[in-house]
Amino acid sequence: MMKHIRDQFPILQQQVHNKPLIYFDNAASSQKPSCVIQAVKTYYESINSNVHRGIHHLSQLATDAYEQARQQVQTFIHAQHSHEIVFTRGTTESINLVAACFSRDFLKPGDEIILSMMEHHSNIVPWQLACQQSQAVIKVIPMNEKGELLMDAYHKLFSDKTKIVAITQTSNTLGTINPIKEMISYAHSRNVPVLIDGAQGIKSCGIDVQEVDCDFYCFSGHKLYAPMGIGILYGKEAWLDKLPPYQGGGDMIKEVSFAKTTFNDLPFKFEAGTPNVGGAIGLQQALLFIEIYGHQNFIQYEKELLDYAISQMKSIENIRFIGTASHKSAVISFLLEPHHPTDVGTLIDFMGVAVRTGHHCTQPLMDHLGIPGTIRASFAPYNTKEEIDYFVHALRTANKMLA
Ligand SMILES: Cc1ncc(COP(=O)(O)O)c(C=O)c1O
Repeated sequence: MMKHIRDQFPILQQQVHNKPLIYFDNAASSQKPSCVIQAVKTYYESINSNVHRGIHHLSQLATDAYEQARQQVQTFIHAQHSHEIVFTRGTTESINLVAACFSRDFLKPGDEIILSMMEHHSNIVPWQLACQQSQAVIKVIPMNEKGELLMDAYHKLFSDKTKIVAITQTSNTLGTINPIKEMISYAHSRNVPVLIDGAQGIKSCGIDVQEVDCDFYCFSGHKLYAPMGIGILYGKEAWLDKLPPYQGGGDMIKEVSFAKTTFNDLPFKFEAGTPNVGGAIGLQQALLFIEIYGHQNFIQYEKELLDYAISQMKSIENIRFIGTASHKSAVISFLLEPHHPTDVGTLIDFMGVAVRTGHHCTQPLMDHLGIPGTIRASFAPYNTKEEIDYFVHALRTANKMLA
């Protein structure tokens, strides 16, 4: 089955530096199957038009397709209502939206926001901006040496001033899968809402937003086989109703006069301006693609790749794994000591292997670990054990060249 899946990703058929491409940078962005590429092409060739604005035929078709895409997302994440699904540009915009709107009406000086040590900059900086505006402060959940969040310390961070918790489902750098359900349940016992950054988790774990009971869930299409520039903010109806609008413009209003404007119903209140309709249709197709093969099959196969890769990489004498949590997604961060990650990454690129090197937008985590960055390999269902074998060979070759 996995060979059949691989064949559907045209980009993987190519060579780079005269070597077959081995794409292990899936945590940064996944590749796109032909059905997604075709769906976007068909949209532009047949029904491209602005949505919610025209009574003409194409506009109605585009509006229907856009709203169907929203329903597909609702089904995929098990949201109760389709109006709880807001289209955004991606995880970053979704988190900025919540942080900006939340701070306007729900944060005051001295209030506290709980984040974790392993957050991506996208789930740190928007909250820092919110703090600048409101004089609220950030508190950070520490972790152990394996890269697992410390639950006792988490509980102790709560006070009467805690107003929101924002944590990642899965760390893009360490691969740690956090116990979000328990963390949400504890926060709710203290009457504190929780935002989950699902940028990585949506692919590596999936989500049932009603089951985990998160208040907000954010993800990007491009890490899930969909185009760039489309993403999702899920928010519980009660919260989306309470938050003020984010951006002003077309579509998010009911009536506008110079004296007063009334805002549109959910989800349009948060969708100012012309949206990325083609992107939404591409996302819908990506979700259908996952559904056809079964998300659990993808998750299971990625775990097999992870276990295999770790077993093979362990034998490299100077390897140091960064992030060894017992519950881990298919992301491996490591160092080949004493070599700089960039040197290793550059050398294996010449052997056709694409990995990410650097701080992975988690500089506070790197500072905590006392390292400038890591080499990161991250897998998707189109990767194979043969590719991992070649990758390990490439790492050994790089080691020799840098010796
Ligand atoms: C955990 C995490 N959060 C947020 C983001 C930001 O996603 P985007 O750049 O698609 O908005 C990423 C992207 O790497 C991520 O891995």
